[in-house]
Amino acid sequence: MRISESKIEEIRSAANIVDVISEYVQLRKRGRNYIGLCPFHSEKTPSFTVSDEKQIYHCFGCHNGGNVFKFLMEYKKISFIEAVQELAEQLGIELNYDQSTFEGQTEQEILFDINTEVARYFSNNLLNDEEGQIARDYFQKRNIKVQTMRAFGLGYALNGWENLVSFLKQKNIDLEKALQLGLIGRNKDGRVYDKLAGRIIFPIFSPNGRVIAFAGRKLRDDDTGAKYINSPESMIYIKGRVLYGLSFAKDEIRKLDKAIIVEGYMDLISLYQAGVKNVVAVSGTALTDEQAQLLSRYTKNVVLLFDADTAGIAASMRSIEILLRKDFDVKIATLPSGEDPDSFVNKYGKEEFEETIKRAENFLEYQTAYYEKQGMFDEPTKAAEAIRDLVKPIAIIDDELKRNLLIKNISRKFNLREKLLEKELEKALEQEKRNVKSQPQRIYKEDSVIQKTLAPEKIKSVPPPLYNTEKEIIKLLFENDSTIIELILQNIEPETLELEIHRNVLSSIKEYFSEKGNTNPADLISLFDEDTQSYLREITIEQYTLSHTWFERHPSIDAENKLYKYAIDLIKKYKQLHFDMKIAENQRAIENADSEEIAISLMKENQELERRRRELKIDLPG
Ligand code: UTP
Ligand code: MN
Repeated sequence: MRISESKIEEIRSAANIVDVISEYVQLRKRGRNYIGLCPFHSEKTPSFTVSDEKQIYHCFGCHNGGNVFKFLMEYKKISFIEAVQELAEQLGIELNYDQSTFEGQTEQEILFDINTEVARYFSNNLLNDEEGQIARDYFQKRNIKVQTMRAFGLGYALNGWENLVSFLKQKNIDLEKALQLGLIGRNKDGRVYDKLAGRIIFPIFSPNGRVIAFAGRKLRDDDTGAKYINSPESMIYIKGRVLYGLSFAKDEIRKLDKAIIVEGYMDLISLYQAGVKNVVAVSGTALTDEQAQLLSRYTKNVVLLFDADTAGIAASMRSIEILLRKDFDVKIATLPSGEDPDSFVNKYGKEEFEETIKRAENFLEYQTAYYEKQGMFDEPTKAAEAIRDLVKPIAIIDDELKRNLLIKNISRKFNLREKLLEKELEKALEQEKRNVKSQPQRIYKEDSVIQKTLAPEKIKSVPPPLYNTEKEIIKLLFENDSTIIELILQNIEPETLELEIHRNVLSSIKEYFSEKGNTNPADLISLFDEDTQSYLREITIEQYTLSHTWFERHPSIDAENKLYKYAIDLIKKYKQLHFDMKIAENQRAIENADSEEIAISLMKENQELERRRRELKIDLPG
């Protein structure tokens, strides 16, 4: 089912984002925007912002944001199509589905469709192909029922170099895109080959149930490759943001208000088959910030169930801190050594498993017990170190009452002096306060996203005035004003911008705007990847901007021309800053020049630059 672009456009422009969101979130007006408490993370002061002008929303706390469809998708956990349908219904707009397919599909939709076709192919190999017998036997040995194979879309990749390649060719699927998705590889002589050949296949789904990647587990003893081969990251798959199994588990997690986190694909599948359905898997690594964020939409209570080996314990310890920072209630369950959740539930059944989960310990008890087992408390020097480690996570917890209870508990249980623990906690709290304080001071306080998108060294190397000017110019592209966009495109070459994110934005808009002439901010923003979108929402929606002070300094300019005049001023300033940089650079070179000759020619060049800076003119469109 596909709805035409123009229909979607019609629905979006008929809906007002402020009205739609107001049905679910209490909003009040502040300045040009509306604010409220974010429905996607827990907060006490509102950082959730809705812009009437730009028809977008953005949370400055958790960075969730987008247009009106995105809000409905996130809030109601529905697909894009469902969000469009729901809005159309509310607005009384008739939907006539456009059957003409592929044309007008976005790049991402094309990739999703390829993955869906390939998943179907792998699944068919497993269920019906003669060669699939080896995989069917394997799953039978591991006690996986056919019904479960179907539910999780499990598959098998035929052994050989180009089975999938031929399938792709036969379906007229663009091989470049399949390469991009990591389904096939290309060797030195340019031949393409199957990457997951001879393996059993686990499709990896987005929270909305679309296939975004694959994992292939080796099956044959003579396969010398890694145990699992996972798809590389792509436009539709960012590993650290995905929790395996979430699309299957989310309803149950919300219902039970609790999630069990396991390590492996098979762990999750076996538990699900046994009837334990509130489970997600991290796929063998420690939990990331983004995974915790994702999970927090469904529950704040988790039980970590990692393998009892050293890697599993280390992963638990790291995950605890991440979860506590996001305000989760964290418990740890342990299995008898040598077992993982899959083997355990197959051996002892669902009831025993649930008992184990019930016995899960508070994270602190778990950590303390671990140190005790290591004999850390027997030696005074080691004990001091262990206690310091123990109180660190407590200091992350916001609630003082909770902190004190934890300290009491631990001192009683492990016979540690309460005073000692309290003293260490004081120190850890001080340290934590310093950490929190020092964070916003990192160069540009309002631009937390940029920290994620760019290496910090990169930002530091850009002088703040230049960064701010670039940022303001970028913001002006999202003011729904074609004259201003033209003005900027005519005067600023994308390559001259310092920050990569700004260069990308300007060059994409250059291409898109000259082709479509569309100036709608929500549409322009949706051209980019999620990090860039988040950055753009953040800078375009922010309350106080440079333009404020500029407008105050120029009260006489009439409202209509204000933005245009501001744009001209900014472009001038931008060009002047570039001249200044070049002049300063020459100045340094003059001071270090080896010969009089070089110094003189640099001085001449600087005179010329000074003159051009003075006589600076900019091109006006039209
Ligand atoms: P395990 O080695 O514990 O495997 O890795 P498993 O899930 O128990 O698989 P079985 O039961 O032996 O078939 C745990 C998880 O770590 C990731 C996978 O997500 C796996 O499920 N992993 C492991 C990889 O990504 N690559 C590897 O080479 C190994
Ligand atoms: Mn296992």
